Amino acid sequence: MSDQLDHAVDVLRRGGLVAIPTETVYGLAADADNPAAVARIFAVKGRPADHPLIVHLAGADRVADWASSLPPSAATLAEHCWPGPLTVIVRRAPRVIDAVTGGRDTVGLRVPAHPLTLDLLARLGGGLAAPSANRFGAVSPTTAAHVADDLGDAVDLILDGGPCPVGVESTIVDCTVEPPQILRSGGITDEQVAAVLDGPLDPADGPSRAAGMLTAHYAPRARVLLADDPGGARRLAADAGSDGLVIGDLGNLARYARLLYAWLRAADDRGASTVVALMPPPEGLGHAIRDRLLKAAAGSGPR
Ligand code: TXA
Ligand code: MG
Repeated sequence: MSDQLDHAVDVLRRGGLVAIPTETVYGLAADADNPAAVARIFAVKGRPADHPLIVHLAGADRVADWASSLPPSAATLAEHCWPGPLTVIVRRAPRVIDAVTGGRDTVGLRVPAHPLTLDLLARLGGGLAAPSANRFGAVSPTTAAHVADDLGDAVDLILDGGPCPVGVESTIVDCTVEPPQILRSGGITDEQVAAVLDGPLDPADGPSRAAGMLTAHYAPRARVLLADDPGGARRLAADAGSDGLVIGDLGNLARYARLLYAWLRAADDRGASTVVALMPPPEGLGHAIRDRLLKAAAGSGPR
């Protein structure tokens, strides 16, 4: 594996793209200091250039290179949640290139909790700009096979770190405003963020709203319908015909989050016309799952 990591560093230093495992979803990574490489990310994903990228770092001790200042809220979150599924939005340091931030004066930073990618970051020394490794608007990848299905030869190397244990993206907290604001619910729950900050917090209400976020996203080809309980879900699936599928696990939200994207992809692989997803209550990981389901429902169906 260490040979493979050296190779990955080589590819990145030459401006290539490497798919990296993280605890949340797979990322499509480029050297964050290389404008041409970062531009390739947008080309490969088909992503609009004004949607900023998260910069992934080897540890909290690297933040000073990338942020011009660290508000107390960001420092506290970093201390408690990194490595882990949390991204802080802070003012950017001069080093951060426009291609990463879409010209904004802020940057999203996170230290991912995956041993392979942390090792890669330590060897690289710099930062990795990486969005989720899917085509723009589609379902995020949680296995190396998902990345290969979506991006194939468009990526120079796929590092296989196994299935992502969290399965939904990082929680994004804007620390440039007071009180800090949750822009996207994710793998660290809204309640955990509030407890760590131990102060007022502007919670995520309604769909996530980080820069460039759309109300329709994370969508499979199948039509996605939502149901509050298993009985209602079965009725909706039956109405949809013989190929209607029900997904979700309300008794185990960690499992639901971990498998959500794989279930949506599997529905498409089976050619299902309709997926009925169970809506968890808005607590714990339910915040992130609900957000993704609402967007999948808004964006799904024949295209
Ligand atoms: O878990 C994750 O966050 C994964 C893994 C790969 O780290 N990454 C991820 O990246 O979900 P992406 O690009 O799919 O979503 C990042 C979101 C985007 O909606 C982007 O607009 C927002 O973060 N974002 C990034 N930088 C921002 C900034 N400076 N201000 C506001 N929003 C920002
Ligand atoms: Mg994404």
